[in-house]
Amino acid sequence: MTDIASSTPENSMASAPALTIEHLSAGYRNRPIIKNLSLMPMQEGQVVSLIGPNAAGKSTLLRAIAGLLPATGSVRLGDVEILGLPLVDQARHITYTPQELPQQIALTVLETVMGALQVSRENRQDVDAAMQKAIDVLERLGISHLAMEQLDRLSGGQRQLTSLAQTLVREPKVLLLDEPISALDLHYQLRVMKEVREIAAEKRMIVLVVLHDLSIAARWSDRIVVLANGAVVAEGTPQQAITPEVLSDVYQVKARVESCSQGSFTVMVDDVV
Ligand SMILES: Nc1ncnc2c1ncn2[C@@H]1O[C@H](COP(=O)(O)OP(=O)(O)O)[C@@H](O)[C@H]1O
Ligand SMILES: [Mg+2]
Repeated sequence: MTDIASSTPENSMASAPALTIEHLSAGYRNRPIIKNLSLMPMQEGQVVSLIGPNAAGKSTLLRAIAGLLPATGSVRLGDVEILGLPLVDQARHITYTPQELPQQIALTVLETVMGALQVSRENRQDVDAAMQKAIDVLERLGISHLAMEQLDRLSGGQRQLTSLAQTLVREPKVLLLDEPISALDLHYQLRVMKEVREIAAEKRMIVLVVLHDLSIAARWSDRIVVLANGAVVAEGTPQQAITPEVLSDVYQVKARVESCSQGSFTVMVDDVV
């Protein structure tokens, strides 16, 4: 077993710790949802989008990977088996941002994001460093003007951005995002996808993100996983995974997949099947 935290840059270059998911099964009491699921290994710096219809099991899969649900099979980061580790150890490598918007609590945005770093309040230097990190993330997401606002006075979209900032500031090795842009306007949808991609590349994170907008997923992901009924229906580059056949099978829609005038991949849905 290799300790990820203590591996040197040289040997991590030699074997960059990919996230490997094999034969994963998970679900709820008497209700299997994810059944024997395996994915292509996810490499550092990669953004992989998980798409699929309502109730396909996307959130269940993310929760299982994060260790928040009982699961069998294997979730490895490099050589380290993550599944079954105590939650605190698991949480050091993997963070999960749920689909639900954060609770309406009477903390400021800045306090909430700093809180995610769990620094001791005794150490002034640590507190200053945490504050600087939190402010940096808020600036990247374009919400530093909200730093002193209370969470319970924000709009849904602003709370969603705060929740994302809270996750990003921890710089996890593996970032699991469940519909992070569902409440955001056009500007912030684009901004979040752009920043997540850049941060993933900079910090060598592995990002698995649930999205509903297929054109956004195609534009910002290295790879797409299409999930239906708890199983992988298609996996590959956006061009490989998002095809009219797959969309018809999975969403029961008649769709076209085309290049727009600037060459971006776009999905147009014409009818229900
Ligand atoms: N806490 C739970 N207890 C029992 N069943 C659940 C629970 N959460 C989700 N499910 C069921 O698991 C299936 C997959 O749900 P989910 O993973 O949330 O789907 P998705 O995120 O793809 O919309 C659904 O049929 C849902 O009803
Ligand atoms: Mg979900």
